[in-house]
Amino acid sequence: MIVPSAFYRPLALGAPAPLREQPVKVERMIHFVPPHVEKIRARVGDLAKQVDVVLGNLEDAVPADAKEAARSGFIEMAKANDFGQTGLWIRMNALDSPWALDDVIEIVGAVGDKLDVIMLPKVEGAWDIHYLDRLLAQLEARHKLARPIQIHAILETAQGVMNVEEIARSSPRMHGMSLGPADLAASRRMKTTRVGGGHPGYGVLTDKDGDAARAFYQQDLWHYTIAKMVDACAANDIKPFYGPFGDFSDLEACEAQFRNSFLLGCVGAWTLHPTQVEIAKRVFSPDVEEVKFAKRIVDAMPDGTGAVMLDGKMQDDATWKQAKVIVDLAKQIAD
Ligand code: GLV
Ligand code: MG
Repeated sequence: MIVPSAFYRPLALGAPAPLREQPVKVERMIHFVPPHVEKIRARVGDLAKQVDVVLGNLEDAVPADAKEAARSGFIEMAKANDFGQTGLWIRMNALDSPWALDDVIEIVGAVGDKLDVIMLPKVEGAWDIHYLDRLLAQLEARHKLARPIQIHAILETAQGVMNVEEIARSSPRMHGMSLGPADLAASRRMKTTRVGGGHPGYGVLTDKDGDAARAFYQQDLWHYTIAKMVDACAANDIKPFYGPFGDFSDLEACEAQFRNSFLLGCVGAWTLHPTQVEIAKRVFSPDVEEVKFAKRIVDAMPDGTGAVMLDGKMQDDATWKQAKVIVDLAKQIAD
């Protein structure tokens, strides 16, 4: 495959101020709403007070004959509400769909001043981001938008995973990336029928040991991809997210999956159902005891160097940096 990067220059000349200068936001949950459903649109103002990000979903789960209604519903709900500090995003349709171009042109044209981030599904390589980047630069110029719109990629094809590093560094507009486990499972031809989470058949047996009963330990299907995504994001100073968890009846499994991703470096996850919002809030906010211990490490080494013992555990420059991540996050959430 030839990557046409030489023909693209991310971010047009004269484009708005660099994105890195924008304030860092806490985005523990990206809450999905279907904008073609009037009943939900009517509740969006209240919902926005309970979540960090409201996302109008235009892509999968919206029937083909409701795509235009979802687009116009999103415009209506964006105009009707003040989202304050809550992020306002869309998930547009994939670039090879018949709806993608109008999603961007119509929504940026109508409410581009309110839109923070466009989530782009099924990103395969940097070229997909470059295309959207240039289109946004044109529309921002046309509509005189002072604030650049950011791009968030969904990592949900085998090719996207292969190219995750170039996607992460493809443009200064890159906000972050989310794992899309449902499409990724299909793209990889995994033998599952689920939206995220584990599988009872995927695990390891403990060693054979005479007549002793052998235990089976389920493994995390998504560990490899999350770790790969987190590295690509961290190396390029953008944010990694776990995506959707589709079994709304299993809140414990949702929490466990979100927590794995948090511990591995993700900053948030998608919430598709109101019951998942509290889970995301809890999981992606650092634990109180952990924050207390992290503060002790930071206080014990004011300049971040050297070595000290705390409760029998050695702390040094590296644990100071880990502690700083937790203390800074707790502070961001408290502010
Ligand atoms: C999300 O879009 C997924 O495919 O999991
Ligand atoms: Mg998907």
